[in-house]
Amino acid sequence: MENKKLFITDTILRDAHQSQAATRMKLEDMLPALEKLDKIGYWSVECWGGATFDSCMRFLNEDPWERLRTIKKHMPNTKLQMLLRGQNLLGYKHYSDDVVDAFVKKSIENGIDVIRIFDALNDVRNIEQALKSCKKYGGIAEVALSYTISPVHNEDYFVNLAKKLEKMGADVICIKDMANLLLPYSAYSLVKRLKESVKVPIHLHTHNTTGTGDMTYLMATEAGVDIVDCALSPFANGTANPATEALVATLQGTERDTGLDLEALSDVAAHFRTVADRMKAEGILDPKVLNVDAKTLLYQVPGGMLSNTISQLKQAGKEDKYYDVLAEVPRVRKDFGYPPLVTPTSQIVGTQAVMNVISGERYKMVPKESKALLRGEYGTLPAPVNEEVRKKCIGDDKVITCRPADLIEPELKKYAVELKEKGIGKYEEDVLSYALFPQVAEKFFATRDKKSNIDENGVRHLVVEDLSV
Ligand code: CO
Repeated sequence: MENKKLFITDTILRDAHQSQAATRMKLEDMLPALEKLDKIGYWSVECWGGATFDSCMRFLNEDPWERLRTIKKHMPNTKLQMLLRGQNLLGYKHYSDDVVDAFVKKSIENGIDVIRIFDALNDVRNIEQALKSCKKYGGIAEVALSYTISPVHNEDYFVNLAKKLEKMGADVICIKDMANLLLPYSAYSLVKRLKESVKVPIHLHTHNTTGTGDMTYLMATEAGVDIVDCALSPFANGTANPATEALVATLQGTERDTGLDLEALSDVAAHFRTVADRMKAEGILDPKVLNVDAKTLLYQVPGGMLSNTISQLKQAGKEDKYYDVLAEVPRVRKDFGYPPLVTPTSQIVGTQAVMNVISGERYKMVPKESKALLRGEYGTLPAPVNEEVRKKCIGDDKVITCRPADLIEPELKKYAVELKEKGIGKYEEDVLSYALFPQVAEKFFATRDKKSNIDENGVRHLVVEDLSV
């Protein structure tokens, strides 16, 4: 075992509540704890990106950029981390290179230090632009391997991918095990091989959906992993990440002691306990997601997707079909060429599985996202697709093989002009919020801009007319 401490990233402000509580943690729920979090000594705190951006505007009436600036103001000593879906940014389609560049630039300007960039299909062409921009603007580019298990996804596949990403300029390589499929001994073996094959630090991200997350971290620690993602106990485990305190205690006094103080962690956790208790009382945090679900090992369904599936079925009044849908997921996945199940492919495969089950006929109802995936619009699928299914879903539509974003003209200016014409939006970042979620942003701006354009630091922000784009 290497004689060096294990670093911890805490996901309490992003993945933990995204996985357990539908991304509903508000800035006001975070504020009382930020200064304490800043003193813990984490490698980083994940606090932005993923689904938080959409959730801020759609459900919480919060400006995601203002949230980021506020967190930064209260946490000047800790690297702030975000999750970014490569060319999809935080949305569900591909954006033009100029939008990707501007988004990355503004994320770093507003306080992000580490950008974890991933592509659902591990198509590196979808990572290139975000990686290039992250480095250009001085961010730490952590590029993720979307981990999954399939006939094409074996250890060699991930080692080769990691080497390729290191060559492309990744500062850190992350193993993103969204669904907690990476079992402890496989983690040991994969981390060992990655440590032998690449020079950059290895960061492991897993969940505790299948109850194996803590063991996976321990074995990865033995194999020399550099950083792992944990969540403070009130939002840890189940579909979220393993608990910070448990791993810190486990490693105390060993060669890989994290150096973090359990009492300080317990103090800051006490605040989030009150937030979690309130969310349970409000029904936002469904205790179902806390159970160890061994069936996930068979169905390969990630944490966020489980809570989505539950709510889709609830809406359709078909909660009894939960396990039918879980059984349909691997079949859809095989038909679609074994995409790893991370956002947005987890939603695409999940929604298709729900539709296949509730409509009573497979591929009778096919959402446009499923069609786009089968047309190659998200990138190259890892394995050949079921051509019969493709035919039923998209008919004779053309299937593309180039980098999807090569077909997209620059579009930043177009969004700026649209905002100006509509007379909405005030800040520079509004163009980006609008580019990602046009309807949601428009509605949000209308509510927000009844207030003023002076932020909490007294800084007056540019209005759209001032934009030089
Ligand atoms: Co995650």
